[in-house]
Amino acid sequence: MRVAIVGCGGMGNVHLRDLLQMESQGFDVDVRYLVDIDASRAEALRAKYGLREVEVLTDYRRALGKVDAAVIATPHAEHYQQIMDFVASGAHVLVEKPMVCNLRQALDVYEAWRKSGLVVEVAFQRHFEKPWIAARDLISKGVLGKIEMVSMILGQAYTGVKGTWRAIRKISCGGELIDSGSHFMDVALWITGLRAEEAFAYMDSRGFEIDINTALVAKLEGGPLLLFTVAGDDPGWLEVEIFWGEEGRLIVQPPAVLLQRRKGEGEAVNLEPYPQSRPAFNFVRAIEKLEDNGSPPVCGLRVQELADAAYRSVELGRPVKVAELYEEMGARRP
Ligand SMILES: NC(=O)c1ccc[n+]([C@@H]2O[C@H](COP(=O)([O-])OP(=O)(O)OC[C@H]3O[C@@H](n4cnc5c(N)ncnc54)[C@H](O)[C@@H]3O)[C@@H](O)[C@H]2O)c1
Repeated sequence: MRVAIVGCGGMGNVHLRDLLQMESQGFDVDVRYLVDIDASRAEALRAKYGLREVEVLTDYRRALGKVDAAVIATPHAEHYQQIMDFVASGAHVLVEKPMVCNLRQALDVYEAWRKSGLVVEVAFQRHFEKPWIAARDLISKGVLGKIEMVSMILGQAYTGVKGTWRAIRKISCGGELIDSGSHFMDVALWITGLRAEEAFAYMDSRGFEIDINTALVAKLEGGPLLLFTVAGDDPGWLEVEIFWGEEGRLIVQPPAVLLQRRKGEGEAVNLEPYPQSRPAFNFVRAIEKLEDNGSPPVCGLRVQELADAAYRSVELGRPVKVAELYEEMGARRP
């Protein structure tokens, strides 16, 4: 399987490392191109891993038709065209989060993926990590009964993005809500299996042109409420997701998952039986039909529905229904 890595920064490095690990384990992985508009970054990666045979490109379009798979780890505004071009060329795609920049693009990617029969995967790594796999397993087995409410807290020293592409709205397409926040919105929706119905947010940009702090409330289909605190000026990193159901409460505070049933003692969930993997490992195995695609474009679409409703609510100063966004596009919600 011939592969191009597009975007040779932080996450390009991580995915390349994982793919080389797959190759060393005997998987059919042949990295052919390292692509970056800044050739020195691609060259640095090539030197780091001693990949003398690998070609450095500054334009991903030169790899179209010459690879079977592409890993896209570029700034957010680049994702859409790169995904669509690789899929049109018949290549499988692993794309970093957020999948794209808006709901129209997310729907296009979703539809292109459905028609293509290819593996298109969004690198939401929590889908492959023990705490979240355990939480999803327990909730889908009905341990909490019907879900009533979800609350998430994200803290990150996001003001550190000053001077980078992340602080430029037309390249990042938004701030902490869709950057690290996309993981949390995905966790809430993927774990509960519910879609967002309506959202309202207040955002504080703290002098940036992107959102830094966000207070988001939403209704999920069937009635459960969702609350998301995004504290982009945290001194470090903080992650908590809490799920309340008729039968109890589950807290995901990595590395721990804590279950409190309505009757009886609280317990730390034993995570040992659950698997631990990485997006790139699943991507290769899904292409080889050894595993299901653990994070298909529908996950990116569901996150974008919630994100777009939240951003639109800030513009309009009122709650926005996801149905309104589809109506505006003249599209049916998949
Ligand atoms: N899953 C995670 O936890 C996680 C963590 C960090 C970043 N990310 C995501 O990974 C992606 C990349 O982020 P990063 O932190 O690696 O950024 P980065 O700035 O370290 O790297 C991005 C690279 O893309 C290159 N680039 C820009 N435009 C390009 C283009 N048109 N074609 C090819 N290369 C181009 C840049 O020169 C840079 O080398 C983003 O989507 C980001 O949100 C995910």
